[in-house]
Amino acid sequence: MDSSVDPNCMLNNGLLMPKVGLAISQNQSDDLIYTVVVDYGYRHLYTVSFYKNEEVVGEAIQKVLTETDIRQEDLFVVTKVWQNQKEDIRGAFDKSLKKLKLDYDDLTKFPSEETLKSKLTEFKLSRFQFKIPFYFSTHQPAFVKVEEGGKIVPGKIANHVAWAELEKLVNEGLIKSIGVPNFNVQSLLDMLAYCETKPVCNQIELHPYLVQDELVKFMKDNEIIRVVYYPLVGGGDLKRNSPKDILKLELFQEHAEKYDRTAGQIILNWGLHRGHCIIPKIFNKERLIENKKSQEFITGGEDYQKISDLDCGRRCFPGINFEFLCYTPVFA
Ligand SMILES: NC(=O)c1ccc[n+]([C@@H]2O[C@H](COP(=O)([O-])OP(=O)(O)OC[C@H]3O[C@@H](n4cnc5c(N)ncnc54)[C@H](OP(=O)(O)O)[C@@H]3O)[C@@H](O)[C@H]2O)c1
Repeated sequence: MDSSVDPNCMLNNGLLMPKVGLAISQNQSDDLIYTVVVDYGYRHLYTVSFYKNEEVVGEAIQKVLTETDIRQEDLFVVTKVWQNQKEDIRGAFDKSLKKLKLDYDDLTKFPSEETLKSKLTEFKLSRFQFKIPFYFSTHQPAFVKVEEGGKIVPGKIANHVAWAELEKLVNEGLIKSIGVPNFNVQSLLDMLAYCETKPVCNQIELHPYLVQDELVKFMKDNEIIRVVYYPLVGGGDLKRNSPKDILKLELFQEHAEKYDRTAGQIILNWGLHRGHCIIPKIFNKERLIENKKSQEFITGGEDYQKISDLDCGRRCFPGINFEFLCYTPVFA
């Protein structure tokens, strides 16, 4: 039996994607990214135009390519087109590539559905009452906008038109693979009906509290890889379900002792064992090393099952736990 998880997953276009990636956030320096690649062995780098991190990543990659034997083919660089760039996919992609100082990227992710700020929304969460600016998202086959008063109006560009723009960039050799974020079964089905190039992945929230077996099965059946955000129950804006809570569970403490690993590694390893790719966000250097090593072992069948049994459908990404704001079943 294998004693570690496969470090790569095969995409439906034949490319290999490293399973442990790094979600690069704002405020990470090019020196740190250089170290992460050269010394800690990360190859999968996830950038997002909205986080304004592409220039820093571009600097770091150039340094890696000129100062070491690592070649661009050894790296897996990911960009994401942001929601407000959906009407000019090519322009947005060109800007990202220029900032990254690259001739192509390995994966470009489609924008999530439009997320708009509504006016102050009051809602109750268990005993507490909040009044915060609230963001809500929709998953519609067409791009939609929500006006003051909740009126839903169609946007100027439908998903199939925007996706075709990405397909053109693939055909021109500027992008190797294209994927989607936060698509449910219905949105994926819709896309599979109109696409010429299939999405290689869907970036979704998955962790021991949110196993999403049905969506995962559908994606496996259609050879769409899961790229996981909040693999450690990230916390979201409201800081609920923070990683600190889950790490304290007795189950993970026991497993950590049994496998001589940290609780964080046990949780990440569970996701990798399920075949997911993970992109935790990390600032702390020790954790950067720790998380990369989470692929170096495999938990036994019974222990693995005990983690899966924690599933309670608990979602952390803010905004979508609140049914009354979701007029479509966003993540069904
Ligand atoms: N809609 C979407 O597509 C969507 C939504 C949300 C997030 N995302 C993406 O997903 C990425 C990951 O989300 P996230 O970082 O918030 O969630 P996460 O990876 O589940 O959690 C990150 C938190 O866990 C801590 N952590 C990391 N490794 C740890 C370990 N081994 N032990 C203990 N704690 C550990 C980090 O602390 P330290 O910083 O102190 O190390 C950080 O506070 C984001 O950067 C974002 O790009 C996408």
